[in-house]
Amino acid sequence: MNIIAKIYCSFKFHNAVIYKNLEILNSDNYKLGDVIGGGSYSRVYEGELDGKHVAIKMALREGRKSIHKELQIYDKVSHPHILPALGVHLAVENLLFMPLRKFSLADFFIDYGAIIQNNKLLRYCIQISSALKYLHEKNILHCDIKVDNILMKDDDGEEVEISDFGCAIDLAHDREARYNVLLR
Ligand SMILES: Nc1ncnc2c1ncn2[C@@H]1O[C@H](COP(=O)(O)OP(=O)(O)OP(=O)(O)O)[C@@H](O)[C@H]1O
Ligand SMILES: [Mg+2]
Repeated sequence: MNIIAKIYCSFKFHNAVIYKNLEILNSDNYKLGDVIGGGSYSRVYEGELDGKHVAIKMALREGRKSIHKELQIYDKVSHPHILPALGVHLAVENLLFMPLRKFSLADFFIDYGAIIQNNKLLRYCIQISSALKYLHEKNILHCDIKVDNILMKDDDGEEVEISDFGCAIDLAHDREARYNVLLR
C-alpha cells in the first residue's frame, strides 16, 4: 500500500463512527418539542420518535466532541440503574434519543418539594452505587454525579437511574486520564 493510501485509510478509520449496540436511526420520523434541559454543550428536548414520547439530546457546536464520547459510553453499558439510549441520529445533527423521564432527582427535591423517606433515600443510594460499581468494573468514570444527572425511572419515584455521560471518562480509550488516575 502506498503512503497516500495508508494516510487515507487511517483518516477514514479515525472518522468512522462504529457502534456495537447503539441503534443508528436514519428515519426522519422524529419531532423536537420543548426544551427541557441543557447547558453550554447540549440542549435536551421533549420529542417524538416513531410516535412515541422521548427525550432528545442535541449537541451544540461546542459539545460535538463530548456527545461522541457520551455515545460511545452508552454503546458499552447496560444496567437497570443507568438510563438506556434508544438510538442515535448522525445524519442531520448529533442526536441522542432516550426514554423520556418525568423528573430528575433535583426536580423531585426542589420543584416538587417532595419529602423523601429515609428508606427510599437508602434505596436510591444502593441503586446509584450498584450502577457506579458496574461502570467502574468497565473502567468508566462518570465524573459528574449530582441530583440533576439522576433521573426517576418511574413516576412513583421507586427507582432511579444515572444519566449524562458528557463528562465521563472511559479509561480504556483515554490514556492521559488513565495515567493521571494511576498517579493518584
Ligand atoms: N431522558 C430524559 N428525560 C427527562 N429529562 C431529561 C432526560 N435527559 C435529560 N433530561 C433533563 O435535561 C437536563 C440536562 O440533560 P443532561 O444532564 O444530559 O445534559 P447537560 O447537563 O447539559 O450535560 P452536558 O454537560 O453533557 O451538556 C437534565 O438535568 C434533566 O433535567
Ligand atoms: Mg447534566
